[in-house]
Amino acid sequence: MTGKRILLIVGGGIAAYKSLDLVRRLRERGMSVRAVLTQAGAEFVTPLSLASLTGQEVHQELFSLTAEARMGHIELSRDADLVVIAPATADLLAKAAQGLANDLASTLLLATDKRVLAAPSMNLRMWLHPATRRNVETLRGDGMLFVGPGDGAMACGEFGPGRMSEPLEIVAAVEAALKGDTTIPLPGAKPRPLAGRRVIVTSGPTHEPIDPVRYIANRSSGKQGHAIAEAAAQAGAEVVLVSGPVTVPDPAGVKTVHVETAREMLQAVEAALPADVYVGAAAVADWRVGSEVVEKLKKGPSGPPSLGLVENPDILATVARHAKRPGLVVGFAAETQKVIDHAQAKLMRKACDLIVANDVSPATGVMGGDANTVHLVSKAGVETWPTLPKPEVAQKLIAHLAALIHAKEGGA
Ligand code: CTP
Repeated sequence: MTGKRILLIVGGGIAAYKSLDLVRRLRERGMSVRAVLTQAGAEFVTPLSLASLTGQEVHQELFSLTAEARMGHIELSRDADLVVIAPATADLLAKAAQGLANDLASTLLLATDKRVLAAPSMNLRMWLHPATRRNVETLRGDGMLFVGPGDGAMACGEFGPGRMSEPLEIVAAVEAALKGDTTIPLPGAKPRPLAGRRVIVTSGPTHEPIDPVRYIANRSSGKQGHAIAEAAAQAGAEVVLVSGPVTVPDPAGVKTVHVETAREMLQAVEAALPADVYVGAAAVADWRVGSEVVEKLKKGPSGPPSLGLVENPDILATVARHAKRPGLVVGFAAETQKVIDHAQAKLMRKACDLIVANDVSPATGVMGGDANTVHLVSKAGVETWPTLPKPEVAQKLIAHLAALIHAKEGGA
C-alpha cells in the first residue's frame, strides 16, 4: 500500500482522538494522509496535531482563498486513492445521503470520484434511529463502504452499537478497499471491464531505411491500432501504444511511444512489459536493408543497387514466447488470399491466443480505409464479424478480450 494517498475527513465526535492514531498507522504503512477537519471536528482535535501527524496542511474552510489558491476543493476531492471519514458522525452521513454541500467536507464527498470509506461514530440511539438507518442504507446503495461501528461502552455512559472501530480495524478496511477499483464511474458511464489492467498495442507501419532519404514502408494508416488503444483506455486499462510513423493523432488517455523501425518497435514493446494484454496491430515490415547505407545512393554505371534484404525480428512471436508473456497475446493477419487458412497457420506459428484476420486485397479498401471486416481466429474456432467502422471493430474487440480475461480468471 506504499504510495497510496488517503483523504481523511475528521468529523466532530469524541472518537476524533483515535483518528490521530489512525493517521500514524496509515503512514507507518507507507500511505500519505491529507486531512480535512470539520468545524465540529476542530472542537475535539486541533488542526496543529493533525498537521504535525500528517506532515501536510490541514484543510478546514470551503471558501478559503489561500487554500483554494494552493489546491482547489475539486482537485482536493480527487487527489487521493480513497476518502476515509473517521469519525463519520450522524450529521456527516445525513449530509452525504442528502447530497448537501454546505461546508468543505460535504462538498468534497459530493465532488469526489473516489470511493469513500466511513467509520461511523455516534450515540447508540443516534445510530439506531430510523433516520440514520435510512441514510446508511442510501449511502451503501450509492457505493459508500463502511467499517463498524462496534458495540461497547460509550463516552456518554451508555452501552451499545455506535463506537468507532479501532484504528487497526479501519486500516484493514482501507487496505481491503484499496485492492479494488477505487474510482467511481460517472453515473451512466460505460462499464470499465479493463480497469486495473495494462494493455500494450502496436499500430501503424514501420519504416525501414534504405539510405538517409529513402525507406521501405507499407500502406497501414494506424487507424485500427489507434482505435484499439483508445477503446482499451475507455475500458479503464492503462495503455501503452507503440506507433510507427502515422498521420492519425495520438489517442486520448494513452501513453504513445513513437518509433520508426521494427527493431525500435520491438525495443519499445519489451520496455513496456509486463502487461495483461498485447495487441499487435502494427503492419511490421518483414524485411530491412541488411547493410546500413550512410550516404544517399547515387545512380551509376553499375545499374540499380541491390538492397540485400534481411528479415526483421518478429515482435508478435517474441512477445508470445517472452518470459514476461502477457496473459492474452493477440495478433493481426493481413492477407490477400486464403484469409482463414493463413490466419490459422499464424496462430500456431506465432504462439498467440487470437488472430484478428482481415482481407487487405486492394479491392477491399481496408488498408488506409475507415471500415474493416474481420474474422477472429482462435483454437476455439472462427468468428466472423460484419463490416464495421474501425472504431466499432476496436470496441467490439476490447469487449471480447475483457470477456476472455474474465472467463479465464473465473475458470481458473
Ligand atoms: N508481426 C510482428 N513482427 C513482424 C511481422 C509481423 O509482430 N516482424 C505481427 C503483426 O503485428 C501482426 C502479425 O504479426 O500482428 C501478422 O502480420 P502479417 O504481416 O500478416 O504476417 P507476417 O508474419 O508478416 O506473415 P506473412 O507476411 O508471411 O503473411
